[in-house]
Amino acid sequence: MNYENLLISIEEKIATVTINRPAKLNALNKATISDLSKAVKLLGKNDDVRVIVITGSGEKAFVAGADISEFANFTIVEGAQLAAEGQESLFDYIENLKKPVIAAVNGFALGGGLELAMACHFRVASDNAKMGLPEVSLGLIPGYGGTQRLPQLIGKGRAMEMITTAGMISAEEAKQYGLVNHVVSQAELLSFTTVIAQKIIKNAPYAIGKAIKAINTNYKDGKDGFETEIKSFGKCFGTLDFKEGTTAFLEKRKAEFTGK
Ligand code: COA
Repeated sequence: MNYENLLISIEEKIATVTINRPAKLNALNKATISDLSKAVKLLGKNDDVRVIVITGSGEKAFVAGADISEFANFTIVEGAQLAAEGQESLFDYIENLKKPVIAAVNGFALGGGLELAMACHFRVASDNAKMGLPEVSLGLIPGYGGTQRLPQLIGKGRAMEMITTAGMISAEEAKQYGLVNHVVSQAELLSFTTVIAQKIIKNAPYAIGKAIKAINTNYKDGKDGFETEIKSFGKCFGTLDFKEGTTAFLEKRKAEFTGK
């Protein structure tokens, strides 16, 4: 499938999705959000893909936010609709995907760009990256989950400061905050991320999906993560991958997981 604003490659079970609007610093316009949502859904269902990496094209930006030119004249209703549709079709979808999605943050990740990175399961950044939620400087608040995911990742006080000052933090600060897991040079960003993805691919896909679900449940109101863990743990015992994993261990060989 061809996308107007995305480049997609699949290599050894790792799909790399590159947001490709470099002249606009990869800002998320409606078409890009729609492309991303379609692409992530298809890759999520593609058995040849076990990990998805999302990055931005060019050397300057991951994503410099939602496309400001598209919503500058929106009404209250249109604004709420923009946030609701984006959250449901893309941001929440990524967070709840059974396959790990890693953000390779190669430059500015601002507003919707940082929110996209935060919806991913974890983040790796290049040392030139800068991150922030500058929406209040535009008279807005973050609308793609930023007010919820930023405090989950870095704590309430730091999130309050970042959001109310509309300031940016460096990649190193983001690492200290726990917002990104690793910082490497821009040249190494994708190869470093691939090494992590390769480690994930060696493990059982069904179990990985259940682990993501159980971890996410901790952040869902009214849901008991321990209950989800118990049920998901039990379900793993019904998979061929569980038989393969335990048999391979006892036979002192590497497991070959099929996802069944
Ligand atoms: N929406 C729409 N267009 C954007 C954009 C966004 N979020 N971010 C950048 N662009 C466009 C600029 O308008 C410019 O387009 P033009 O060349 O047609 O004028 C192009 O991308 C390059 O950006 P520019 O501002 O010239 O680059 P810079 O190096 O001077 O500044 C930033 C880089 C990231 C600091 C600056 O672009 C910026 O502040 N962007 C908006 C960030 C933001 O507020 N995001 C939250 C949105 S809710």
